[in-house]
Order: sequence, then C-alpha cells, then structure tokens
Amino acid sequence: MLIVGGTASNSIDERLAAILGAKLAKLEKKDFPDGEFKIRIGTDVKGQDVVIVQSLYNPQETHLLELLFAIDDIKGLGAARVIAVVPYLAYARQNKRFLEGEGISIETVVKLLNAVGTDALVTVRPHKSEPLSGFKGRMAIVEPVRSMAKAIKTKCADPFILSPDKGGTEFAEAVAKSLGCGHASLEKERDYGTGELTIKSLIDGGFRGKDIVIVDDMISGGGTIAASARFSLDNGAKSVGAAAVHMLMLDGAYQRINESRVAWLIGMNTIPYRNAELVDVSEDIAEAIRGLLAST
Ligand code: R5P
Repeated sequence: MLIVGGTASNSIDERLAAILGAKLAKLEKKDFPDGEFKIRIGTDVKGQDVVIVQSLYNPQETHLLELLFAIDDIKGLGAARVIAVVPYLAYARQNKRFLEGEGISIETVVKLLNAVGTDALVTVRPHKSEPLSGFKGRMAIVEPVRSMAKAIKTKCADPFILSPDKGGTEFAEAVAKSLGCGHASLEKERDYGTGELTIKSLIDGGFRGKDIVIVDDMISGGGTIAASARFSLDNGAKSVGAAAVHMLMLDGAYQRINESRVAWLIGMNTIPYRNAELVDVSEDIAEAIRGLLAST
C-alpha cells in the first residue's frame, strides 16, 4: 500500500503511513501564473493500492480539483485501487434544495468522485451520510466517537453531553454512551434565508447543576455553540465546554464562542486550526482503511 499526501492532508498522511506501516509519497503541485495548476505523482503506483489523503477545507475548489486530478492520474498510471481519504468533505451541508432552484452540491461532488474512478472513499462524520449514497465504490464513514470521548474525559471529570440540535442527537448519544454519562438534545431552528438561529427548547432530560459538554459535527460561524452555551447557562448548567469534529471556525467564531462563556473547546484535525486543541483522527481512519481492504 502507498499513501499519497495531497497539499491539504494536514499531516494525516504521515500519521497513516506510520500507523499502517506504508510507504509515503507527497503529491507534487506546480502553480501557473494564470491560476491553473498541475499535479504529479513522482512514485511508481502500478499495481498498488494507493490511498490519497486530501481534506476539502478552504480553498475547497482548489483542494477538490487537486484530489480529482490526483485520483485520475493515479488510475491512469495503473494503480490497482485508489482509496480517497477525505477527512473533511466539503459541500456536505448542501444536501438538499433548501430554497427552490438551489443545486445539491454534495451530489455533484459525489458524481465527480465517481467520474474519475475512485474505488473507495473514507470520510469523517459528514454532515449527513444519505447524500453520499450515490457513490459507486466502497465507502467507510468514520465516526470518531471513542477519540472524542477520550478527549472530553481529559477536560471534564463528570460530563453531561448535549446535542445542539436533533440532527446531532445520534452522535452525541454515542459519545455519551462511550463516556457512560447522560445526554440531552436541544431544538434549534435556523432561518435558511437570513441564517439566523434560535434555540427553542430542551427536548429531553434536564441538566441543572451539570457540567455540560456540547458535542457537534462542526463549528462554522460559532452561532450554534454560542447559543447552546447561553441557553444551557441560563437554564442552570454549572459549566459549559464544547467539542466538535470539523473546525471550520470562520471569522468571528472564536470570539462568539468565547463571549458565550464556553470554558474549553476541542476539535479534531480534519481541518487545521490553531486556537483549540485538536484530537488526531488518524487511528480511526486507519481502522476504516484496514476494514475496507480486508473486506475486498
Ligand atoms: C448543523 O446542523 C450542524 O450540525 C452545525 O450545528 C452547524 O453547521 C454549525 O454552524 P455554526 O457554527 O455556523 O452555527
């Protein structure tokens, strides 16, 4: 097996090569003055299983195109199989027509991955997995439940897990189960026109006097974590910490979260981010790759 690291691998390629005992090569990229670029694989891939690691954080379009170029090149050079490891899958949130006439971006991304002949796809907790059902190869979705639970334990001795919305309940419940602690969900409402969000109510359980840990799949503008933290503290929580998988952390997100009196914040290394401790997901991804290879 050969691991090829794209320019947006955030060192997960190096960790995977070490964990899996595989050879590592870096994707070469040359930029042209007109904004175009070309890529090159400088290692022999003929007959090999090749894992290309590329996360699709900002600039998403460049990183996606680089990934597609790389897969097409690796296939063209005669690799046996290409496994795309995409720790953060961009466009996963545009999974339906929220407003009439909108495109379903994630379905287009999946069609592109099919078109270049991707044999298998490994991604970490996409926003929703159903829109990936159009992927024709084998797929492994990494749910980094244990890694997140382990990291939460180092921050909070007696946590109570809170999902900020119904969509995140399953993941939050799994993290709570792994920690052997209680959990609850909030009801969040977002206006798709203005983007404004409101926390309407607590769906189940109670958290008075508890050390709340808000668990979410991603932090984008930080509004969800901030509003959930305020709601929790206003309703009797003793303290609030937050743990998310993908740290998009757009401008102002850190400040928004800080101002909402979140005591600590952790994320995962699917996206590089400097202002929070990042948990490494490489072991979880390596396990998924082993599973894919063993079952084919
Ligand atoms: C939404 O359903 C997601 O699970 C996240 O809660 C959301 O994307 C976070 O976005 P923001 O940080 O902008 O509130």
